[in-house]
Amino acid sequence: MRTLNRIEELQACIAGERAQGRTVGFVPTMGALHDGHISLVNRCVRDNDICVTSIFVNPTQFNDPHDLDTYPRTPERDQQLLLTTGCRYVFAPTEHEMRSLPARTFDLGPVAEGMEGACRPGHFAAVAQVVAQLFDIVQPDKAYFGEKDFQQLAVIRTMTRQLSHSVRIIPCPIVREPDGLAMSSRNLRLSPHERQQAPLIAQTLRQSAALTPRRTVEDTRAFVVNTINSNSLLRVEYFEIVRADTLQPINRWTDANNANNAPRGCIAVRCGNVRLIDNISYPC
Ligand code: PAF
Repeated sequence: MRTLNRIEELQACIAGERAQGRTVGFVPTMGALHDGHISLVNRCVRDNDICVTSIFVNPTQFNDPHDLDTYPRTPERDQQLLLTTGCRYVFAPTEHEMRSLPARTFDLGPVAEGMEGACRPGHFAAVAQVVAQLFDIVQPDKAYFGEKDFQQLAVIRTMTRQLSHSVRIIPCPIVREPDGLAMSSRNLRLSPHERQQAPLIAQTLRQSAALTPRRTVEDTRAFVVNTINSNSLLRVEYFEIVRADTLQPINRWTDANNANNAPRGCIAVRCGNVRLIDNISYPC
């Protein structure tokens, strides 16, 4: 495994691999790696001749400066974890390096407007911009994204359709702790007491799915919000039940009734100072 900081160095290595006819898979990350990231890297290693993983904490996608300052950074551990995977190149550019690139804006449309888009203005424009820059550098055949950031996945798909080169976006399932909490770099910032309470989010989503379609969409929404808010450490920021393809809210289960647009419940919860997101697919 080689770690490179310069765009030109990485591009030279990838050109060498391409000259040998090798396919290139790509996993963009912001570091503080956990088993969720490692599942993406493992899948990428399996599917492609070489895997490139990027580690770049993109400052422009943080609309809260405190969140950027406190975002976990664990560079040595990241290296150790990646060494176990078969990842060929780690790309860890400096901010200066990334700022030297042209920045594009994309028409992200309605998928970027609600939920995270409404709570974090400018966030998705910045994510789309940095991922497009990374795609331009790596020119991957396939790129891997976790379904935990379900809306981000839809935004990346929309952005990718506007690029001149083609890259296949591969969604990968959420990886959870044994108690159900979705793995996230931000979990490292939870106090022991908060960490104990946080699994209520996933447990409540699971319970709500067990009762569909007998319970209406509206009652499911109320059940999830009230159950989580009844814990004094947790505050629901939003909970929306949306079509998986358009991310538009539904009012009846039949508004989203096939495998491509099965309803998704997407949630953001404040746990102390930490913002956690999760989602679940509802049977329909
Ligand atoms: O999901 C993330 O970690 C980031 O949003 C990404 C895709 C690496 C872009 O900075």
